[in-house]
Amino acid sequence: MNIRDYLHEQQKLVDAALGRWVPPASTPPENIHSAMRYSLFAGGKRIRPVLFMEAARTIRGEIAGIEDAACSLELIHTYSLIHDDLPALDNDDLRRGRPTCHKQYGEAMAILAGDALLTLAFQVLAQLPDVDALRKARLVEELAVASGTVGGMIGGQVNDLEGEGREPTPVLLESIHRAKTGALLRASLRMGAIYAQADRDQLAALTCFGEHIGLAFQIVDDLLDVEESSATLGKTAGKDAQQHKVTFPAVYGVARSHEMAEEQRRRALETLERFGSSGGRLRELADLIVHRRA
Ligand code: IPE
Ligand code: IPE
Ligand code: MG
Ligand code: MG
Ligand code: MG
Repeated sequence: MNIRDYLHEQQKLVDAALGRWVPPASTPPENIHSAMRYSLFAGGKRIRPVLFMEAARTIRGEIAGIEDAACSLELIHTYSLIHDDLPALDNDDLRRGRPTCHKQYGEAMAILAGDALLTLAFQVLAQLPDVDALRKARLVEELAVASGTVGGMIGGQVNDLEGEGREPTPVLLESIHRAKTGALLRASLRMGAIYAQADRDQLAALTCFGEHIGLAFQIVDDLLDVEESSATLGKTAGKDAQQHKVTFPAVYGVARSHEMAEEQRRRALETLERFGSSGGRLRELADLIVHRRA
């Protein structure tokens, strides 16, 4: 099966599991469940849960029910997008091709929908069937640290916001990107490895892959903001320059940023060599992340 069809199939697997974990919009209080579902089922790429599942399969092959744990990453990610779009943060009107959560449901409900998705992510991990308590605790730890303030997503968001209008230096740039986006992508790989009971060397290799691919992912996100239209992206293009964000194109220019994304891809692929043919899908995902147009 080619990578596009495969990805589509995996996205459907994740979406079905998400549909089971998030209460139906008819469950009171209806408005919050409706808001959570509105943002969650707006057509995200599901890159993080897919990376999680592929990391686990690289170690242990097919594992029944793996999509449940994978959902935790998408729940955190979608929460981070809802809050990223709030007027107090990036103040965006468009996300995943539709009005942002706060545009549709109001600011209070968008804040609460983000909070609820965040909380649900940890509920999912705590309630995983067929996973022993120690592994659950390790998964919770990985996700909490990657979402947190020290080198994690929130820390990166703080640096991103405080960086607006500051001199775009390479050091500031890397600290923002590794944390705000890289940490959760790295955690996707690490959590997949932990879920599949990888040994230390396997975990280290997948961590390294996650770091390179995490950085590549945000370099490309920055490039797409410059190069693509809002219609293609499903989010407002040209926003970073407008808000004087510290981005790869701002620091290195567009051409060099493309080269740097390629460099990260190459280094990510090197870390997969030890896995031989079982790393095939991760290789394809690395290519897709760097060559995507949305
Ligand atoms: C966008 O993430 C925000 C970043 C962290 C760069 P994605 O590009 O994965 O967005 P969706 O999930 O496909 O909408
Ligand atoms: C957002 O980065 C990263 C997180 C949501 C943590 P951006 O602000 O660049 O994401 P987009 O471009 O709005 O999707
Ligand atoms: Mg932002
Ligand atoms: Mg944003
Ligand atoms: Mg962006």
